[in-house]
Amino acid sequence: MNKKGQSLSNAIDTVNLPRHRWYYYKEGFSPNLVNNAIRELNLTNRDLVIDPFNGSGTVTLTCALEGLPSIGIEVNPFTAFIAKTKTHNVDEKVLSQCAQQLLHAIEQNQTTVSRWIGISTFTEHDHLEKWLFNREVADAYESGFVYLDEIENQEVKDILKLALISSLMGCANARRDGKCFKYRNNWKEDGLNKKSFLKILTDKLQLCIEDAATEIKEAPTIISADSRTYLENSFNDKFSLCITSPPYLNTFDYTDIYRPELFMGGFIHNNEELYRLRLNTVRSHVQAAWPNPKELEFGEHYTRIMKHILNHQDQLMCKRIPLMIQAYFEDMQQVLRSLYVQAMENAQIWIVVSTSAYAGIEVPVDRIIGDIGKSVGFELKRVSKMRDIRKRKTKYSGNIDLLHESLVILKR
Ligand SMILES: C[S@@+](CC[C@H](N)C(=O)[O-])C[C@H]1O[C@@H](n2cnc3c(N)ncnc32)[C@H](O)[C@@H]1O
Repeated sequence: MNKKGQSLSNAIDTVNLPRHRWYYYKEGFSPNLVNNAIRELNLTNRDLVIDPFNGSGTVTLTCALEGLPSIGIEVNPFTAFIAKTKTHNVDEKVLSQCAQQLLHAIEQNQTTVSRWIGISTFTEHDHLEKWLFNREVADAYESGFVYLDEIENQEVKDILKLALISSLMGCANARRDGKCFKYRNNWKEDGLNKKSFLKILTDKLQLCIEDAATEIKEAPTIISADSRTYLENSFNDKFSLCITSPPYLNTFDYTDIYRPELFMGGFIHNNEELYRLRLNTVRSHVQAAWPNPKELEFGEHYTRIMKHILNHQDQLMCKRIPLMIQAYFEDMQQVLRSLYVQAMENAQIWIVVSTSAYAGIEVPVDRIIGDIGKSVGFELKRVSKMRDIRKRKTKYSGNIDLLHESLVILKR
């Protein structure tokens, strides 16, 4: 099925693809982009592919299915878990048996109470007006989560856990919408309950069982770390292709929008851990007091837009935006410098990014990353537009209503 809006720079096609469809990660890109790069560069199973912003692991899963070795680095422990779990090789029969037992355990359970009552707006409580999960849904999820302890095979357990989390989100009263959750019309009347949760979980588990037959030819390495420091201090492998999509320069904090999964999946345990995670993410948001950047030179495009932004600071939603923009490009420079050191001769770096807009001016993030790539030693092969994206109207957006996603290709 060819869905409207499908592009190589988004994850829409993953909803129909084996294993990719185990978790829909809205910020992902298409496996076809990865396949195109593999073909264009004539890579074989002796070539290493890496992704320093691996997200849900589109790059590592695509390589694993193609039989190419790959390494994915991802700071968010939940998304690193998705990436790892999607490449588990398990016996379909064992998975199917454990899935039946899990469903039966949830169906039969009448006593387990969610541990998330009263925490944040996760579930219905006292004076809350809105909550993400109705009590029956949260309790059913909890009983499944507790049941996972009974399962000995770690890989099967991971797949069931991912299916549980995915079904929980499928049974939420709100949908992710940009930087926040948007409550569905009539969510209260809809009254999602244990039955709704079990229906979604049953379907999800069925997909996982079907897909378990697709062979993982080469297990990838998934590293849960901050790629800025990991690449600089601990990464020693030589690679032929780096294909990646860093966070966009859009003040979007992934750790915030993935809070339900991070907490309810047991990947973080308190707000301090969440804050530490934020500090380890690329400085594309203003939600954490990250260290101020020092570098100032990122090429002509940067100098031009920064001058404009500094002259129009009254049009910014927050006064730290200029520092954030500078910090973002400092992070990109740090990553590109490390990549240059580990790139094989003729290796390529494929980067998917979007432009952004501040103080009524479009920030050509693609061009600036191209300039930074050149400054650290790469040849800039091309910057090509992949698609236009509509910019959300806010009181700060000025006249800009279209941004675009591009592919930047650098060569060593
Ligand atoms: C646009 S998403 C990548 C999506 C990925 N291409 C996919 O298909 O799933 C960017 C990712 O970078 C991660 N990230 C942010 N800061 C990071 C850091 N310092 N080190 C590693 N990953 C980071 C985010 O958690 C997010 O998953």
